[in-house]
Amino acid sequence: MGVLVLLALGGPVPVCSAQAPPSAVPDLVSAVDAARLYADACAACHGARGDGRGPAARGLGLPRPRDFTAGVFKFRTTPSGSLPSDQDLFRTISQGVAGTWMPAWGTRLTEAECWALVRYIKSFAPTFRTEAPDPPVPLPSPPGRSRELISEGPWVYAVLGCAQCHGERGRGNGPSARRLSDDYGDPIRPYDFTRGAYKNGGSPEALYRTLRTGLSGTPMPALEPSVLAYAGGANADVAGLRRRLPPAEFDGAATYLTREPNAAELAAMSPAALDALVERRLWALVYYIQSLERRPSLPYRLLREDAEAAVGAARTAAGKP
Ligand code: HEC
Ligand code: HEC
Repeated sequence: MGVLVLLALGGPVPVCSAQAPPSAVPDLVSAVDAARLYADACAACHGARGDGRGPAARGLGLPRPRDFTAGVFKFRTTPSGSLPSDQDLFRTISQGVAGTWMPAWGTRLTEAECWALVRYIKSFAPTFRTEAPDPPVPLPSPPGRSRELISEGPWVYAVLGCAQCHGERGRGNGPSARRLSDDYGDPIRPYDFTRGAYKNGGSPEALYRTLRTGLSGTPMPALEPSVLAYAGGANADVAGLRRRLPPAEFDGAATYLTREPNAAELAAMSPAALDALVERRLWALVYYIQSLERRPSLPYRLLREDAEAAVGAARTAAGKP
């Protein structure tokens, strides 16, 4: 609030929100006393040694503050299993992690301070000294929302088994939901898509990033293109689908798969056509889960009605109530 007022009055503006590379501010960064800043702003939670065992951590519940020594980070543009890029760490520090104790520092620190902290927290994990992060996965700009994409979404969701953890209606209550734990042995719940306020961002771009890169250290997997290029037609895994899905969902999903390219057709596709197919399925998923938010803005509400109407129509076509 105070910060908003300052902004409105043209006072000191938040500066830890730039996307400039750290090399753009080297002198300022080296002038920052990063150890002191870390001790003041971060150590209470993340611990003086970066092991996530700061004095305040115990009282905060789950998720625990990250143990930086492990070198495993959830929010990345880099592939699953890779270290994050400096930009990734910068983004997290600037934006914080919605719904957790991790504050957004963008309005409290300068750009140079945030870059200095990126460098400092990397020093806790030995892997940063021996490995380089993989190049970021390509993050294309979103196609517009369309009725076609939104109506395909529920079937991509069904075929890929998201419901196993996130539940049939995306409420975070799938059959596996209560048995999941993260890499540190702490229980972790799948996200409830009706809630909004995603940790890693709720824009189409951010959701795409989450789906393509997964959340390392948690059961949330990355969707590789090979997974998204599932075969339909005669090669569809209909038996697997029947096992996983309730009958009402099964018929619609099976019908959807009969219309999708089979294994021979996938093999004959040009790389560009295959990419386009994989992209289409990914964006369908993005717009679908976004449409599940419970109190969405008007455009989303209209889109959700579209999605529900599409599911309803597909069910009717499949002879289900
Ligand atoms: C009040 C407690 C608290 C403070 C203070 C705090 N953090 Fe965090 N931080 C957390 C929690 C909790 C998480 C774990 C969020 C999750 O796993 O969803 C986290 C996660 C992170 C992550 C991991 C993101 C990822 O991709 O996995 C980074 C990086 C981070 N914090 C940096 C910092 C820095 C730098 C500071 C100081 C400027 C700081 N934090 C201060 C609680 C805190
Ligand atoms: C094995 C269980 C599991 C499966 C399968 C799974 N997820 Fe998740 N997902 C999780 C967990 C656990 C989290 C919460 C991670 C956290 O809070 O750090 C999560 C979080 C998410 C988030 C929220 C990220 C954020 O920014 O807060 C999205 C979006 C998501 N999953 C989408 C999907 C989609 C779409 C599928 C199907 C392709 C899927 N998930 C499959 C377990 C799973």
